[in-house]
Amino acid sequence: MKELQDTFGRKFPYIRLSITDVCNFRCTYCLPQGYKKTPGDMSSFMSAKEISRLAKALSELGVCKIRLTGGEPTVRKDFFDILKNMKQNSNIPKITMTTNGYRLDKIAKQLYDAGLDGINISIDSLNRETFKNLTGHDRLSEILAGIKILQDLDFKSIKVNAVLLKDINDTEKDFETFANFIKENKIDFRFIELMETGDSKEYFKKNHVPAKIFKDYLEKNNWIYQTHGKDAGPALNYIHPEFKGKFGLIAPYSKDFCKSCNRLRITARGDLRLCLFGNTGTKIRHLLQRDNQKDELVDLIISQLHLKKASHHLELGDTGITPNLSSTGG
Ligand code: GTP
Ligand code: 5AD
Ligand code: SF4
Repeated sequence: MKELQDTFGRKFPYIRLSITDVCNFRCTYCLPQGYKKTPGDMSSFMSAKEISRLAKALSELGVCKIRLTGGEPTVRKDFFDILKNMKQNSNIPKITMTTNGYRLDKIAKQLYDAGLDGINISIDSLNRETFKNLTGHDRLSEILAGIKILQDLDFKSIKVNAVLLKDINDTEKDFETFANFIKENKIDFRFIELMETGDSKEYFKKNHVPAKIFKDYLEKNNWIYQTHGKDAGPALNYIHPEFKGKFGLIAPYSKDFCKSCNRLRITARGDLRLCLFGNTGTKIRHLLQRDNQKDELVDLIISQLHLKKASHHLELGDTGITPNLSSTGG
């Protein structure tokens, strides 16, 4: 079987597949002005048929997990067609998604029924007002209700992400609020260190907080570091005997962050991206037009892997040109 491996011996069984750039939220660190639609925009994203061909080709490359991202993946009208088709026809064992959860209370049961294998939801604050100010939407209670529905269905994997932001969610009191939330809830709650993107330099300067402050909190409060699994994501995970949930920390500015990279990205317009950072993509969409192009597509993807760099060296301040995360699938 062919597989995805780069010159540094890293394997890529995990694809983050963006299915739209469009997002209906206006998170201050991501899309403060909201998504600006341009004419023809919607039709420029890969169709459900193209995505279905892509998933089949990826399964031949040993990919065992696809994470659907965006933008906000559920803004697509055919989101459930894409999800169900992937679950039923792609041969990929795990299909997960990252979402802002804005309709989670309405669609939780449908997601469960479709066979979704895991969900990551962004909740930067558990305070209604703060949540509203950060995202532009007063939806916190609906999102929490959606999580409750998933839990009642015994849904397999629920993770919550919060971007660590100065004076918003970075005090000991904020950490305690999140800790209370996972005390009885079997949820992985992860802080992501704010990353600087091309259009967020000023925001970054004002709001960036080093991940270390949360790490210090965890250590002070006897959270136990769980060693990194072989196919684990970028989060460092911590457990505590008195808590049902876990805490996690995604610290892209830490040394060696890229050593364990196990994922590649495909944008909604059908570009293969080897890293979240940098601005290079390879167009693969022309090979998604007919079923009989699968072998050519597989070979094209393999041929790009030698271009993947050992590290993006964020810790040295070298980000290159980094597009907004809403257009690279985060
Ligand atoms: P799972 O392990 O599948 O749960 O994936 P995840 O934690 O990567 O998924 P999620 O969509 O919740 O991503 C959380 C955030 O982690 C992303 O939005 C990024 O901010 C960050 N992240 C994920 N992968 C990478 C990566 O390869 N490089 C960097 N710098 N950040 C990443
Ligand atoms: N830095 C860190 N995380 C970010 N996200 C979006 N933009 C940034 C950024 N600049 C997060 C979202 C979501 C995940 C997919 O990426 O909050 O949880
Ligand atoms: Fe939308 Fe996610 Fe960006 Fe927020 S972080 S604006 S939910 S894409």
